[in-house]
Amino acid sequence: MITKPKGTNDIYGSNAKVWKYIEEIIDSVMEKYNYNYIRTPIFESSELFHRGIGDTTDIVTKEMYDFKDKGDRNMTLRPEGTAGVVRSFIENKMYGDNLPVKVYYNGTMYRYERPQAGRERELTQFGMEILGSDDPMGDAEIISAAVNIYKMLGLKNVKVEINSLGDNESRVAYREELINYFKPHLSFLCDDCNDRINKNPLRILDCKVDENKDIIKNAPKTIDYLNDDSRERFEKVKEYLDLLEVEYEVVPTIVRGLDYYSHTVFEIKADINGNSLAIGGGGRYNGLVEELGGPDTPCIGFASGLDRLVMALKEEKIDLPIKDYLDCFIMYVNEDEKKYAMYLAQEIRMAGFICDTEYTKRSLKAQFKQADRLKSKFLIILNSDDLNNGQVMVKNNATKEENLIEIEYLIYYLDEQLADDETFDYDIECSGECGDDGHCLDCHNHKH
Ligand code: HAM
Repeated sequence: MITKPKGTNDIYGSNAKVWKYIEEIIDSVMEKYNYNYIRTPIFESSELFHRGIGDTTDIVTKEMYDFKDKGDRNMTLRPEGTAGVVRSFIENKMYGDNLPVKVYYNGTMYRYERPQAGRERELTQFGMEILGSDDPMGDAEIISAAVNIYKMLGLKNVKVEINSLGDNESRVAYREELINYFKPHLSFLCDDCNDRINKNPLRILDCKVDENKDIIKNAPKTIDYLNDDSRERFEKVKEYLDLLEVEYEVVPTIVRGLDYYSHTVFEIKADINGNSLAIGGGGRYNGLVEELGGPDTPCIGFASGLDRLVMALKEEKIDLPIKDYLDCFIMYVNEDEKKYAMYLAQEIRMAGFICDTEYTKRSLKAQFKQADRLKSKFLIILNSDDLNNGQVMVKNNATKEENLIEIEYLIYYLDEQLADDETFDYDIECSGECGDDGHCLDCHNHKH
């Protein structure tokens, strides 16, 4: 048997419905916030990530899926989405558009990490980016939009942790302080950190080998080295988060594992298998567009791991209102009835109902069982005599009530019958009011 590569997953069955549901919530929230969907290539030239994420980061030095294509070009399966979005922003001259450009994406990323719960080699991220605004309102909007998506999904135990790395001047001052602090203690640090000390001392702080050592825990903190402008800016971000009623904690040890950040950095954490894991993270990257050859364009963004998000939903035992039923199942016995079943199924589906039929020559008795397994609300039982009279038998699978219905009125009949069904009316406008079970009183579907 050929098995899937380590660190990858097959998503199917009821789990796939959970994923689709989450993606629908993301789409609907992003639409409300006026972010446009963007889709960039899964592989890009390796240079993009070397320059974008940083040559001394763990992602670039240890985790990239690099390959040479048949034209001998160095390519990389994208480890994250921001660099590709920025490349696209520059290449397509989006900076000439009305700024800011607000985009979101959802797709697979690739990191050669040691696989464990919540750490995949093929991971899925959704992310959102605001390109072309330096206003702290963008920082607060991104964080609150992320929190609102988690809330819409029903997650409760989510913690927002924020920090500031400051502007260039603050970061230069901090860098010097870090070098002075670590230099006398190099023998306590791993080989990689010894290498990082002059190249990029900030990366020592997110070293996975040394992370539990006191020398790292007691290192100087970025917020103690912010200049006045950076401190004021950070205060504004907090003020706007308060305004939007986002709860957060300032955690001065957050530096993030990618080099492109300045000013605000943040992580959003949830409990997964007893561990507090980041389900999302992001920050401001005011220098990246210029670094990659575009005009000076301040940006802020965020990305969330869907694999971890699904795990967090399971951990909190959140019952998502997933549609796992059929409106009707069409049953038949002979070839003529089967042809009609195929035709009728198409008509019913095109009228907007979820409909299925028999594919494996089951007996009529077994088809009843199949309809139950598929949780079909109505059964349409075809019979040649009824069809000759222009009628079909429709059975309500809950009440067991049966009615012979004129075929030309079948769609109206289904419409009428299913209109009263609370799981059916998912297209109506909802007021945002919740019932005791936490579901919307109007659509009975979303959680607010
Ligand atoms: P990141 O923190 O590297 O940031 O990844 C964002 C999220 O992706 C993490 O919080 C985590 O939920 C998920 N994630 C990362 N690695 C794995 C993995 N191996 N397995 C499962 N999930 C994982 C970024 O990627 C930045 N591009 C975020 C950003 C957007 N910053 C600005 N804009």
